[in-house]
Amino acid sequence: MSLDTYYTLGRSGLRVSRLALGTMTFGDNWGWGAAEDTARAMFDRYLEAGGNFIDTADLYTDGASEELLGKFVEASGTRDRVVLSTKFTYNGQPGNPNSGGNGRKNIMRAVDASLRRLRTDYIDLYILHTWDRLTPAEEVMRTFDDLVRAGKIRYAGLSDVPAWYASRAQTFAEAHALTPLVNLQLEYSLAERHIEHEFVPMATELGMGITAWSPLAMGLLSGKYKPSETGGEGEGRLQKIAGMPGFDRFTERNWTIVAALEEVAVAMGKPMAQVALNWVATQPGIASVIIGASKLVQLDDNLAALAFDIPAELRARLDQASALEPTFPYWFFGDVQQSRIHGGVAVGSKPSSYAPPVFVPALQQAGFKTD
Ligand SMILES: NC(=O)c1ccc[n+]([C@@H]2O[C@H](COP(=O)([O-])OP(=O)(O)OC[C@H]3O[C@@H](n4cnc5c(N)ncnc54)[C@H](OP(=O)(O)O)[C@@H]3O)[C@@H](O)[C@H]2O)c1
Repeated sequence: MSLDTYYTLGRSGLRVSRLALGTMTFGDNWGWGAAEDTARAMFDRYLEAGGNFIDTADLYTDGASEELLGKFVEASGTRDRVVLSTKFTYNGQPGNPNSGGNGRKNIMRAVDASLRRLRTDYIDLYILHTWDRLTPAEEVMRTFDDLVRAGKIRYAGLSDVPAWYASRAQTFAEAHALTPLVNLQLEYSLAERHIEHEFVPMATELGMGITAWSPLAMGLLSGKYKPSETGGEGEGRLQKIAGMPGFDRFTERNWTIVAALEEVAVAMGKPMAQVALNWVATQPGIASVIIGASKLVQLDDNLAALAFDIPAELRARLDQASALEPTFPYWFFGDVQQSRIHGGVAVGSKPSSYAPPVFVPALQQAGFKTD
């Protein structure tokens, strides 16, 4: 697999690379990003490698990410070649509730602001960034459809929403012949596999390609952090954001995963980051992995992540070290129940392209026979 081999995203005709370039590190306003010259060098390097899929959001680095990206795309004359994805939801006007969230009024405001910063008249993939717990899925889907018809966006997706919400949104779009969702952007890595329960089967069944964010668990899986008395230590973003709610990656469980990853990487003679990214890219349902970097040398390292295969026995070691706990109702659908449901007869109805249900590792861990 190389970056200039393109795959269609979900059930769509949009061709994207298996590694997307994340630009949350474009701009140093948040204290752990890259200044303009480094951001430009990373943009150039990604395109040189054949990549075409670039992810940003309206409020990454307070708008600097979109502004820099718009500048680089314009200067390089690559607007037709790149697939630009950006997102809305977060609020940049304190005190004004309609300047954030997923209501029609905010989406219409946000899309025009992103188009201005990106210096373009259309967005290839427009993504709801995070569920606001209020706006009906129907309102979001109607608004996406209006934006496609108005020529402001080409495709639509959701990020960080419950599976039931995405499922309702897609079903509503299908029933009313509205523009469908072709993408789900979700956190996924060896350290965070919860999407395997619901999202992977849903996305595969409903035609949404998953793009994985924080595939290195924000740098943890590069191996540069070590356990310490205070949890963990090492130079990088995780140390700078330590204490922020929701960003603690220095857990017992994660150190076990890091140790297994290190063993596998040593056995393969590859950097840990490459092995971790390769594992994500080759998991069921994953359309593209959004790689992040704050330095050019990291990007170079990460761009080589698809150039090899992880041998089956080493992959099994990674799968096992990072397996999810068996959780109801997923463990309940195992062989014992299937035999009782189908009268002891082997029954299959899904085409072989259907990704294996992702509760399999959890079942195996619980001692169920799954093949
Ligand atoms: N939808 C969402 O809610 C959401 C949320 C987060 C991110 N995203 C998207 O996903 C993209 C990637 O997320 P992420 O930046 O968190 O990804 P990540 O791959 O988990 O972390 C990237 C960070 O790890 C470190 N790193 C990367 N490669 C390395 C290497 N080879 N060796 C050592 N350290 C390395 C760098 O941090 P240091 O500065 O510490 O070196 C880099 O900034 C973002 O740019 C954004 O587009 C989306």
